[in-house]
Parts: sequence; structure tokens; C-alpha cells
Amino acid sequence: MKYSTTAGKLGDTRTDCLIVTVRSARTVARTLRVDTFVEAASRDFADKPGRALLVALPKSSKIGRLLLVGAGDAPLSAADYRKAIGAIAATLKAAPIKDAVLALGDVDVTGFDEYQKVRVALAALSTQLYRFDADKQQEEPAATQIERVAVHCDARRRAAAARAVKHAQALDVGMAFARNLGNTPPNICNPTYLGREAKKLARDPRVRVKVIDERELEALGMGAFMSVTRGSATSGKLIVVEYRGAGAKQAPLALVGKGITFDTGGISIKPAPAMDEMKFDMCGAAAVLGTTKAAIEAKLPINIVTLVAAAENMPDGNASRPGDVVKTLSGQTVEILNTDAEGRLVLCDTLTYAERYEPKAVIDVATLTGACVVALGSHASGLFSNDQTLANELIDAGEYVWDRVWQLPVWEDYQQALKSNFADMANVGGRDAGAVVAACFLSRFAKKFKWAHLDVAGSAYQSGPAKGSTGRPVPLLFQYVLNHV
Ligand code: BES
Ligand code: MN
Ligand code: ZN
Repeated sequence: MKYSTTAGKLGDTRTDCLIVTVRSARTVARTLRVDTFVEAASRDFADKPGRALLVALPKSSKIGRLLLVGAGDAPLSAADYRKAIGAIAATLKAAPIKDAVLALGDVDVTGFDEYQKVRVALAALSTQLYRFDADKQQEEPAATQIERVAVHCDARRRAAAARAVKHAQALDVGMAFARNLGNTPPNICNPTYLGREAKKLARDPRVRVKVIDERELEALGMGAFMSVTRGSATSGKLIVVEYRGAGAKQAPLALVGKGITFDTGGISIKPAPAMDEMKFDMCGAAAVLGTTKAAIEAKLPINIVTLVAAAENMPDGNASRPGDVVKTLSGQTVEILNTDAEGRLVLCDTLTYAERYEPKAVIDVATLTGACVVALGSHASGLFSNDQTLANELIDAGEYVWDRVWQLPVWEDYQQALKSNFADMANVGGRDAGAVVAACFLSRFAKKFKWAHLDVAGSAYQSGPAKGSTGRPVPLLFQYVLNHV
């Protein structure tokens, strides 16, 4: 999607579709001398949030259609505003409209300034109007055609709207990047592919990308990471993206992503139903790469180091066995009791690797546990942290862009679940509190920095008829980054 701003008299706009409230529609209709027509077409329209009505205007008109948005008279609550934007998105999605002008200057939203109003609207449009059709040979009649949305604003609001558009554009690009990676089939999107896609980020002169291969991972002493990737015919990679948007002295933010490009479970193999969805087990990696891409796109003055643990979890003659004991990069040993708890194994070594950057904070993102889906469903990502300030900042950023998280504990009391008779710890506990215990495991490798873990197993992709990557939590992470420049 291409976003821009536009100003001037609404009636003079030239567009496929002008998106307005009913009251400004009437003013515009008078200017265009189609008022009786618009009046009649909108007579039965219920002017409330969530309703939208598309009115096609006569061919001779500069404005192809009016999209009437239900808003009522009073200021809208944030929830009603989101409803109104949702109705706009649904309409744009289904109509043969290439470009639109969003002109909701007369709508006030309680608690939102102009910047947030535009950000929230465009983030929702980006989310809903994305489509992925790389492999569809037989083109279905393309419903969605929208390519450009301009935000109409008066002179007083132009600066805020322009800043919001710039950030929304960067987020759109970053989110689409993440979603495309997530949706790409696992026979294509393997660790090597992720490495190549990451390398493209280095077209920007402020970016350096390193792809560390298995030989080097082994030499470094990443025994946990290696235990996961050894059973796969495609080689695992640790992908390092260094974005230098600020001075060399500024400590970087480290983003760590779980990049299991397919998770069969390994020798502790998963049941067949819906196993295809385990191609989404690299959505954490996609999200940190997408966030980094958005930051690069917006030229944010901040340093970010992005670490992607890319591997495939396969059963094979070389695969690790339940009972194997491996040595992590940190020196701690782990007894692998379940090879399906592989995410924490690749992440723990990657967290230790992050220490060398002396980061100001480390945020890891992972489709880590089915237990997190049981606890929170898809509305919130699970948040775990060893630093409450960092946790609060993530909660606030998520609330701001409506990509929410909910915090769960990382209490010492849960650590005992990981006790092993044969190593410093086991890689799984019992059935209880699975998402918390997984976070407890990671916390043992995050002692040297402020750390937060986002379990996005329920939020990063959808199942069912709308199966696909959602791009979450890129909006949240990008907002967090924006709040730190
Ligand atoms: N990738 C899965 C977690 C997952 C499950 C993500 C369902 C999305 C939907 C992870 O590698 C895994 O298999 N976790 C196990 C952990 C268990 C063995 C302790 C799980 O959740 O069952
Ligand atoms: Mn697994
Ligand atoms: Zn997994």
C-alpha cells in the first residue's frame, strides 16, 4: 500500500473513492451537484460505527464513489473508531477501487491526537488489505485492487498527519515483509532462504548482515542450537543484521527471533493434523526482520542488532534423541527430554550470543508454546520479562497500535519444573504452565541484560479459512522502537 497526505477542498478531490462521514458527504455532494442523489442513496443508512455504505457517483464526476462511514455525532471511543476503520477496510477490500482518500478530519476520537488517529487507521488498513498470492496459478477474480490511500488533512494537522503517514508506510513495508516470509511454503522458506532475504536488507549502507553457518556454530560451542538443526538436510543458520542508525557509542537494542522454518517435532514427532501450520514456526524471525526493515525504511536514528535462529526441526538419523544431553554456549548443560521443545534450544544459544553486543535490552519473539495459545488465544501475545520497566513499555506500545500483549510471571517458583537428574536443566517441565516454564528456561540465558520474551504462538498467524501470517507483533515492536528514538 502507498500512503500519502493531501489537502484542499474535499469537493475538489480527484479519486476513485472519497471516504467521509455522512455529514461531510452531504457537503461534498452539494459541491458536485449530486445532493439529491446522495441524499436518496443514504436515506436508510444507519449512521453508527461499524457501518459503511459505498455510493457510486455518476461517471462524469471527479470522485468515483463516496464511501460513507458511520460515525454518529459525538466523539468516538477508540473501540468505535477501530470499528469504523474496520468497516472501511472491508468495503475497500471488496470493491474495484484502486485509490482512495481518507477524509475523517471531522471525526474526533477520545484520547487520540491526530498522529495516533492516522497511525491506528493506516495500521488497520495495512493489516486487512494485505494479500499473498505468489503461488496461485489460477487467478481468482482479483477482489482487492486498492493500491494508494491518501490522508486528507487541513493545514493545521498536516505535520502530524505527514509524520504518521511516514511511520505507517514503514510499518506497512515491514509487516508485509514479515507476512510474506511467514506465508512462503517451507520447501522454499528454509534457513538459507531466510539468510538470503536478510541479506537484502544490506542494500542500505547502514546495514551489515552476517550469516553464520553450522560449521561456525559448532566451533562457537552452540551445542543446543546444533542439536536441533542436525536432523535436517538443510543447514541451520544464525543470521545477524546490524542496523546502525545512530552513533557507534549508543548501545543497540537486540531483537531475537525463533526461525524454525518447519517444526515436525523431531523424534518427539507431532501428530499429522494441521502440521502444515508449523511452517509458521519462523514467524518470530519474520517479525524481528520485519521490524528491522521498518526501522531502516523510516531511517530511525537507533542501533538495532537482529539475531535470527534459523533451523528446521526434522526427525532423521542425525536427529537428537530424548535423553540426549547437550552443552549450551553459556556452558550450562541441557537434557533434551522432548525434541519438540526445540525453540528454546535454538534461542538459548542465540541469547547468549547477544551478550557480545552489550545491548541495552533484548527482546525475543517466538511461536514458542501451544500452552500460550491455550492461555491467551489469539488476542494477546504472551509477555515475560526480567525487567518491569521494559515490560510496561511493551504493554504500552502494544496498546497504542492495538497489537496487545499480556504479561505472565517468570517466578522463581516455576523454575523447579526444569530440574534434571542428568544435566543442569531439562528442556521441558510437566504439563502445567507450559508457557511460563518455557520462559523460565530462556530466563536462565538472559541474566546479563534486560530481557523480554514474546510468545506469539497464538497471535503470529491464523488458522482456518483465513489461514496465514498476521505480521504480529511487528506493529508492537516498531512502536516500541519509535518510542525509543
Ligand atoms: N512450535 C511449537 C509451539 C506451537 C504450538 C506454536 C502450536 C504454535 C501452535 C513448539 O516448538 C512446541 O512444539 N512446543 C511444545 C512444547 C512442549 C513439548 C513442552 C508444545 O507447545 O507442545
Ligand atoms: Mn516444537
Ligand atoms: Zn516449534
